[in-house]
Order: sequence, then structure tokens, then C-alpha cells
Amino acid sequence: MSLRKVFIGGNWKSNGDIKFLKSHLSSVINNLKFDNNKCEVVIAPVSIHLATAKQLLAEVNSKVQLASQNVSAYNEGAYTGEVTANQLVDLQIPFTLIGHSERRSIFGEDDKTVGTKAKISQDKGLNVIACIGEQLKDRESNNTMKVCLTQLDAISSNIKDWSKVVIAYEPVWAIGTGKTASKEQAQEVHQQLRNHLEKQQGKDVASKVRIIYGGSVTESNANELIAMQDIDGFLVGGASLKPGFAQIVDSFKNKKL
Ligand code: PGA
Repeated sequence: MSLRKVFIGGNWKSNGDIKFLKSHLSSVINNLKFDNNKCEVVIAPVSIHLATAKQLLAEVNSKVQLASQNVSAYNEGAYTGEVTANQLVDLQIPFTLIGHSERRSIFGEDDKTVGTKAKISQDKGLNVIACIGEQLKDRESNNTMKVCLTQLDAISSNIKDWSKVVIAYEPVWAIGTGKTASKEQAQEVHQQLRNHLEKQQGKDVASKVRIIYGGSVTESNANELIAMQDIDGFLVGGASLKPGFAQIVDSFKNKKL
């Protein structure tokens, strides 16, 4: 039994032009069928497409929400290229990703920066999808939980309102590689993350916070992953750009609420 609403996120990364945005919305996203008492669906196109996406979703009264893929660690000012939390709130974008492994490994974001982004998002009332996850070398040296908990603590020490947080566990070795964590491997980490949060933040926070899985989620593995007790949904990269995203969203029906 779970008290938590399923959360399905689509991280489009740096993919797609306006033509793709329009066709993917009209052919896939606008036809998604889900009960929004049981499931929440959030998509993250590139930031310059957010305003258009918002308008297109509003035109069809969509229940699908939007997320930015990133947020600045600074407020407004001389920070060329950055989009601030205030600007996202102003555009009525309810969510942002923080700490995605590509931001960490390619753009050099460390735990301190991710923590600052968590804090600034909380201060401005923006919901975060906070990503954590170990690399293959960490898993092979039995350091999975050490790495994940260090990343989680850097985020959780900046959180006051846990209702605005979704944790995304994304093992780096599973992202974009076609290698999904097995349902047992993912459940084990999710359970330990929840146990840690229970000790640190109390039972109420731990039982309510959604911990979602990301890393090569497709329509072929979504149903078995979602059935696991501590897996509350997904952050989907590659497969969120394809028609199969609809079947991934459909997997919410396999969750015993
Ligand atoms: P993937 O990406 O589904 O393509 O593995 C997941 C992510 O990076 O969020």
C-alpha cells in the first residue's frame, strides 16, 4: 500500500525544435490518459520552449505540468545564460530538475551548488525534482549508498517544505545506456533512502516523499518497476520523446494506492 501519488516525469534534455514540441504534444502528450488523483505527469522540454509548451497545454486544458531542466543558483543579476527561480515562478512553471547527473558530470555542478539550487527553489516556492545517483565505479566498490546519501544530505539540509520535493534516484550507469537497474536493485536503494529520511526528517516526511527511479525506463520495464513498494514513479529521458511514453504513464495503474 502506498499513500503517495505516482509521479511520472519526462526529461527531454536538449532535444527537439518547435516542430517536434508541437507534434509530440499533439500526438502523445495531449492524448495521455491518467487519473490525476493517482498520478502526476510533468514534462521538461528545453527552457526556451517552456512558454510555448505552457500555452499549447493550456489550449487543451491539459493536466500535464511543466518543469524546467535547470535553475540558477543565483537570483536576478549579471549571470549570463542563467534562468532564475523567480523567472520560472513568474511563468508559472511549477517544477525544476536539480542535480541531474549530466549537470554534475558535464557542467561541473557539485553538491554545494545543487544544495544552493534546492534552497533558492524552496525560497521561491518552486517544486524540485532532485536527482541523485551513483556511478558504476561507486556501485562496484560498494559505495552506492555512501554516494547517494551524501548527495541527498546536501539537498535535504536545504529543505524546509518537503511537500515540494521529489527525489529522483538515477544510477548514472543506467542513464541513456539501455541498462536499467533491476527492480530489486532500485527498490533496495529507494528503501534505504526512505529509511535515511525517516531517521533524519521523521516518519511523516519519509512516508509522503516521492522517490522516483530514472535510468533507461521504457514501456517494457515500467510495469514491474512501479509495482515495487518504494518506487513512486519515474524520470524518463529517451523514452519520453517517443510514443511509448503513453504506456509508461499507464503503468501508474500497477501501483497499489
Ligand atoms: P534515460 O534518461 O531514460 O534516457 O536513461 C533518464 C534521465 O537522464 O533522466
